[in-house]
Amino acid sequence: MIRFSAPTSIIFGEGAVLELSAELEKLQAKSVLAIYDQGIKSTGLIDTIFGRLIAEGLTIYQFDQVIANPTDNSIEAAANEFKGKQIDVIVAIGGGSSIDSAKAINVLLTNEAPIQQYEGIDQVPNPTVPLIAIETAAGTGSEVTSVSVVTCTKRKKKMVISGKYTTPTVAILDPQLTVGLPPQVTASTGCDALTHAIESYVSTLANPFTEIHSLKAIELIYQNLPTAVKDGQNLTARSRVLMGSTLAGMAFNVAILGIAHSIAHPLGAHFNVPYGLANAMALAETVKYNARFAAEKYQKVGVAMGLGADCQAEDVVKALEELNVELNIPALNTTGIQRADFDIIAKAAMEEPSNDMNPAPVSYEMFMDVLEKIYEK
Ligand SMILES: NC(=O)c1ccc[n+]([C@@H]2O[C@H](COP(=O)([O-])OP(=O)(O)OC[C@H]3O[C@@H](n4cnc5c(N)ncnc54)[C@H](O)[C@@H]3O)[C@@H](O)[C@H]2O)c1
Ligand SMILES: [Zn+2]
Repeated sequence: MIRFSAPTSIIFGEGAVLELSAELEKLQAKSVLAIYDQGIKSTGLIDTIFGRLIAEGLTIYQFDQVIANPTDNSIEAAANEFKGKQIDVIVAIGGGSSIDSAKAINVLLTNEAPIQQYEGIDQVPNPTVPLIAIETAAGTGSEVTSVSVVTCTKRKKKMVISGKYTTPTVAILDPQLTVGLPPQVTASTGCDALTHAIESYVSTLANPFTEIHSLKAIELIYQNLPTAVKDGQNLTARSRVLMGSTLAGMAFNVAILGIAHSIAHPLGAHFNVPYGLANAMALAETVKYNARFAAEKYQKVGVAMGLGADCQAEDVVKALEELNVELNIPALNTTGIQRADFDIIAKAAMEEPSNDMNPAPVSYEMFMDVLEKIYEK
């Protein structure tokens, strides 16, 4: 049986953020909890967006302490601060860290802590309030996925809390909000989105409904990311990368991911490597490993990238390696990780659920080998 679902309503385009007020009115919101991090705060976006709402008479509570790779402790501290307050809608602004934090905080406003007990699919018993996600980093696709990724500090594991109560009600995608994203962050979040698009396309769970989203995402991201990185003011490139990252989110929300993510998750959970960067470092080498198990599909990936009708999986690998050079994606050894740490990463990667839908079988030795290959340039 094929299943596909994309329940989040999407508002996309320059100026889309001006629709926030009307969306809040539709949801009959009088009191809003805004969730974001210090990086977003420093852009001045918060004052512009919420100044308007305050002038309209809404009550705005603010949580501005979102951390990268959010943890159980950071979520529970936020929930304790706002539990018991009248909150009609949550508005998250930022990248995956802000949106995932908002999803998990939302869970704990109507459900008891600890957050660990809701790990898995549809484990949250009590309904949450509507969530409006304003994505500004064009990477994770969290604005349209059912997933909140929260690090369990005890187990040093990225837990996935997924289901209808963690799916955003509305996604607001305004490319103008992404122009301030610094070049290195644009490069790594964009590579994460490209990894979502490629891994969801070759996944054993892919179906025609997900594949069409994945292929369009590959085209939009690969063909526009270098311009978005080098010329951040280019709204056409920004717009295409943002659209691609959301399409990729719609695809992997159903088809899930693959082994680049199996490596990226422990790199974040154990060593706090920025999530997008971890994927960017792993992508080309994992495609090389998978290539002969999904050769036809990688050929179609190459066509979507614009490599020509005759391209092969090797051309895709080469193009991804060249992309990393062009975007200055560093090697793994620049993160402070030592070769002695590979064992912990490979063992954790073996536990990752996205191994199950990877087109090639996985092994501890394979993960060790990939880590060695991406360690130095
Ligand atoms: N829920 C999902 O479906 C899903 C999918 C993949 C990853 N994730 C999770 O998302 C997190 C990573 O999210 P991310 O890669 O988007 O990074 P992020 O949210 O941590 O943001 C990266 C940096 O960019 C800054 N930033 C964002 N937008 C900006 C803008 N417009 N201008 C200037 N600075 C801006 C932020 O302040 C931050 O410093 C990880 O925890 C990862 O596990 C979630
Ligand atoms: Zn990802």
